[in-house]
Amino acid sequence: MIAIGSDHGGYELKQKVIEYLNEQNIKFKDFGIFSNDPCDYPTIAEKVAKSVASQECKKGLLFCGTGLGMSIAANKIKNVRAVCSIDSFSVRHSRLHNNANILCLGGRVIGLGLAIELINVFLNTDFEGGRHQKRLDMINNFK
Ligand code: RB5
Repeated sequence: MIAIGSDHGGYELKQKVIEYLNEQNIKFKDFGIFSNDPCDYPTIAEKVAKSVASQECKKGLLFCGTGLGMSIAANKIKNVRAVCSIDSFSVRHSRLHNNANILCLGGRVIGLGLAIELINVFLNTDFEGGRHQKRLDMINNFK
């Protein structure tokens, strides 16, 4: 199960991605918002990030205007590694090396085709572990 959420800036892209997830039979939990009325992105980022941190959901997708505010907010939750990117090389390496567990995308930056490509890379690439785990442990030990 993956967690999904947006503010108004990412709402349209989230809805299109939901159609794609349904077509692909990918199970998700939608944390809102449920219309494009303006809302504050940290509210949704916190819900999705806590769902991933608690392992209720394995990974998360967050959408706002740029993807940036969502990633800043989600990364405040311990054990969340949220990334915002528009290229598949970086998204692939965010899984291989950083074990990223939330992908943040900008509804005002990219279209559906690129979003789907990035989401597929994010969902289907495994963490390499090994020396990379040691580095993630170092981040977890920040005081
Ligand atoms: C909302 O206007 C916009 O600031 C928000 O969607 C996001 O891009 C913030 O980072």
